[in-house]
Amino acid sequence: MNALLLAGGLGTRLRPLTEHMPKPMALVANRPWLEHLVIQLKDQGIRDFVMAVKHYPEQIRNYFGDGGKWGVSIRYAVEPTLRGTAGAIKNAEPLLDDRFLVVNADIVHEIDLLRLLEYHVQHGGKVTIGLTEVDDPTQYGVVEQDGSGRILRFVEKPRLEEAPSRRINAGIYLMEKDVLRHIPDHREVSIERETFPLLIERNVGVYGKVVTGYWMDMGTKERYRRIHWDLLNRTCRLPIPGQESGSGIWVGEDCRIGPGVLLVPPVLIGNRVDIGERSIVGPFAVIGDDCTIGRYVRCSETIMWDRCKVNDAIHLNNCIFGYGLELGSKQILHEAVMNRMEAMQA
Ligand code: GDD
Ligand code: MG
Repeated sequence: MNALLLAGGLGTRLRPLTEHMPKPMALVANRPWLEHLVIQLKDQGIRDFVMAVKHYPEQIRNYFGDGGKWGVSIRYAVEPTLRGTAGAIKNAEPLLDDRFLVVNADIVHEIDLLRLLEYHVQHGGKVTIGLTEVDDPTQYGVVEQDGSGRILRFVEKPRLEEAPSRRINAGIYLMEKDVLRHIPDHREVSIERETFPLLIERNVGVYGKVVTGYWMDMGTKERYRRIHWDLLNRTCRLPIPGQESGSGIWVGEDCRIGPGVLLVPPVLIGNRVDIGERSIVGPFAVIGDDCTIGRYVRCSETIMWDRCKVNDAIHLNNCIFGYGLELGSKQILHEAVMNRMEAMQA
C-alpha cells in the first residue's frame, strides 16, 4: 500500500508565510511539515510515497529527491493545471497501488493507520475516511453516518445549522484503486464537493472511522500557531528536533547563548543560533536554525524560521517570521506575520 500526499494547495490563508512555497513546506518546529509527515508515516510502515504537487513543485522535489535520505521511495505526480483534490488523485493514478492511502499534506496528526486499515478491510467497501470531532465543523467536510459507520452524506464546509454532525473529514483516506474510474480525467475535480457525494450516491461503500490522537489542520495562522504551542507543551507528542536540555527547553547544536540569557520554557532553539546577552526567549518561542538574536531582546509566543536576524532590544510577542527576515532595533512587534519579498528556501 503506498501513500499519496496531496501537497499542491496554494496556502492562501497562511500568507505571507507561504507566498513563495507550497503550504506543506511551511516549517513546523524547524522542519518542513511534509518532512514530519514522511517520517511519521514511515514509522507506521509506509515505504512508498507519491507526492501530488502543483505549486512550486521544484521546491518539494529538490528537498526530498527520491526519498533515499529518509529511507523511503518518493515519486512525483505533477499537475499540468490545477486539478483539485480528486483531480490530483486521478492524475497520480499510474503511480498508485491497488489499495492506497491519501493524506492531505497540511494536517498534523498522530493517527493510528493500522486501526484504520483493519476497519477498511473489515467493512469491505471501497473507501474509508478518517474522521475526527471538532466543535465548529463549518471549515471542514462533515459526515452523517449510520450505525455501521457507512457514510450517508458528506457536506463540505456547511453552515453551522446545516452541518449533519460534528464529525469531520480528517483528510486521510484509504481507497481501492477501482474507485478512480468514477473521477473524470483532465479537469478540476474536488473530492469533497464532487467525488465523495457521487460515490455515496452510487453506493460503492464509503465508510468513516473516528481516529483518536492529536489532529490539526495547519491551514490558518491561528491553527499554525496552535500546533507549535501544542508541540511545545507536548499535547502533540510528535518528535521535536534537538536535544531537550531541561524540562521544556530544546536547544540544537553549536548554539551560543550569551551571559544572562533567560530561556523560559517551553522553548525550542534550532542549530547554530546566537543569542546575545540578557535576552529573554520564551515562553512559547521557536527559533529556526542559524538565527541571530541580539542583546536585550524579548521574544515570546513567536515562531521564527531559519536565518532570521533580530537586532538589539526588540520586543516580540505572538509573531511569525519567514526565512531570513531581518528586524531593526528597539522595535515592539505584536502579532506581526512577516516574510521577505524574495523567495528563500529550506
Ligand atoms: N496536488 C494538489 N492539487 N493538492 C491540492 C489541490 C490540488 O489542486 N488542492 C488542494 N490540495 C491539497 C492541499 O495542499 C492540502 O494539503 C489538501 O489538498 C487539502 O486542501 P485544503 O485547501 O487545505 O483544504 P481544506 O483544509 O480547506 O479542507 C480539506 O481538509 C479538511 C481537513 O483538514 C477538506 O478535505 C475537508 O473536507 C477536510 O475536513
Ligand atoms: Mg487544509
